[in-house]
Amino acid sequence: MVTPVPFALPADQLAGRVAVVTGASRGLGAGLAARFAEHGMDLALCARTEPTLPAGATGLTAAVDVTDAAAVDAFADRVVDEVGPVALWVNNAGVLQPIGPHRDHDPSEVDRALLVNVGGVANGTRAFTRVARADATAGSGRPVLVNVTSGAATSVYEGWSIYGACKAAVDHLTRTVAAEEPALACWAVAPGIVETGMQALIRSQDAASFPAVERFRQIHADGSANAPAWVADHLAGLVAGTWAPDDVVARIPNEHG
Ligand SMILES: NC(=O)c1ccc[n+]([C@@H]2O[C@H](COP(=O)([O-])OP(=O)(O)OC[C@H]3O[C@@H](n4cnc5c(N)ncnc54)[C@H](OP(=O)(O)O)[C@@H]3O)[C@@H](O)[C@H]2O)c1
Repeated sequence: MVTPVPFALPADQLAGRVAVVTGASRGLGAGLAARFAEHGMDLALCARTEPTLPAGATGLTAAVDVTDAAAVDAFADRVVDEVGPVALWVNNAGVLQPIGPHRDHDPSEVDRALLVNVGGVANGTRAFTRVARADATAGSGRPVLVNVTSGAATSVYEGWSIYGACKAAVDHLTRTVAAEEPALACWAVAPGIVETGMQALIRSQDAASFPAVERFRQIHADGSANAPAWVADHLAGLVAGTWAPDDVVARIPNEHG
């Protein structure tokens, strides 16, 4: 099924504009890249596994671990030099584990989640603000930052203590940077439930580790998750001015009502 465009996306405001996506080797990030390419955007994609450009797309790909600040900075410089000024930067890379009661967590897994989900977003946000501030007065609209968050930032999901805490930190980091950088448009956006490897991992949990697991299995059975293209069109809408949430922390509406 082709995902309908939720609202008119003026092609002339997207074609040739540069979209950066971290964590674009699979899952939501790869889906965002594919849809941005359909809108004619140029792409800059990274993950630890070097992503592939969607067929017909132009841009660059790189193997980057978002926990490595220097590598993220070098990637941002390459994007500007080789692809062009950034119109949209999506800090999408993230991990869900550790899952289960907090008392049982492996401290090294906790450290890793904090490094990727908070440190990685901080690194990407810093790189974006550095390169985008230079372009912010170029006259083609404010460069847009999207930090991918989750409903788990505000709702309590037993079994996701660290994941939810990380996403709450992402929300607050984004609010603060939005206030610091009025020349940039900064958003924390929860995509809703999207069918990815992360969702398969969620469904594979037992109820002792993740008591809400049945709800997620039901959403899978119903086929009622948001398509990556639906999420992408909202994020592109932040660039085109066709989606304008009334708060820095926003949630993509459910595609299927
Ligand atoms: N799926 C959902 O329903 C849902 C709901 C709410 C929020 N989210 C958020 O959406 C984002 C994407 O999730 P997803 O479902 O697409 O997850 P996923 O299928 O597990 O994909 C995660 C992506 O992040 C990359 N990644 C992980 N660690 C990285 C690192 N250290 N450096 C660079 N890239 C890294 C992975 O690539 P490599 O392994 O190759 O590095 C992969 O491309 C996450 O921030 C997640 O919290 C997802």
